[in-house]
Amino acid sequence: MSKISSLSELLVDEIKDLYSAENQLLKALPKMARAASAAGLKAGFTEHLAQTREHAARLERAARLLDESPKGKTCHAMQGLVEEGAEAIELEAPDAVRDAALIGAAQRVEHYEIAAYGTAHAFALAAGEPEVAALLEKTLQEEGDTDKKLTALSAAINEAANRGEASDETDDKKPRPATRAATAKRAKQ
Ligand SMILES: [Fe+2]
Ligand SMILES: [Fe+2]
Repeated sequence: MSKISSLSELLVDEIKDLYSAENQLLKALPKMARAASAAGLKAGFTEHLAQTREHAARLERAARLLDESPKGKTCHAMQGLVEEGAEAIELEAPDAVRDAALIGAAQRVEHYEIAAYGTAHAFALAAGEPEVAALLEKTLQEEGDTDKKLTALSAAINEAANRGEASDETDDKKPRPATRAATAKRAKQ
């Protein structure tokens, strides 16, 4: 059982938790990018992977400002979210439907990060650590932007998933199983 006696110590604990979360994501995002079919979604995951490396580096800088190490904690919430992401990756479904599931898993991750960075940012401000707060706020902003991009991408993907078609954005133009299934269904009607 860990013991924490001040808000400053709780801030360090939050930074360690986030550092674990970001490092878990560094392993999960390439798998999500590989599993995505729509080119825009694939690119979105790859872009967020680069941002996530910067998020981890910012946490290292924040910890250094506090004379602490960012290591030493496991974020259990992110373990669960990554497991759900793996379920989406392995989903046997038409491509657009799997993409829709991947977006759902990714947005859960972003919302968790937004909550955690928002909390840590407020702690840093209250504890009189403006430089740490500024680092956390920058990442908080990027997590919010990523969430909005995912919402924008989901519009076309959800529509394609609902039509039983591959998304317009898919990389290859070969007929997808979903498209063939939809065509066969239409032919029978
Ligand atoms: Fe992040
Ligand atoms: Fe993120």
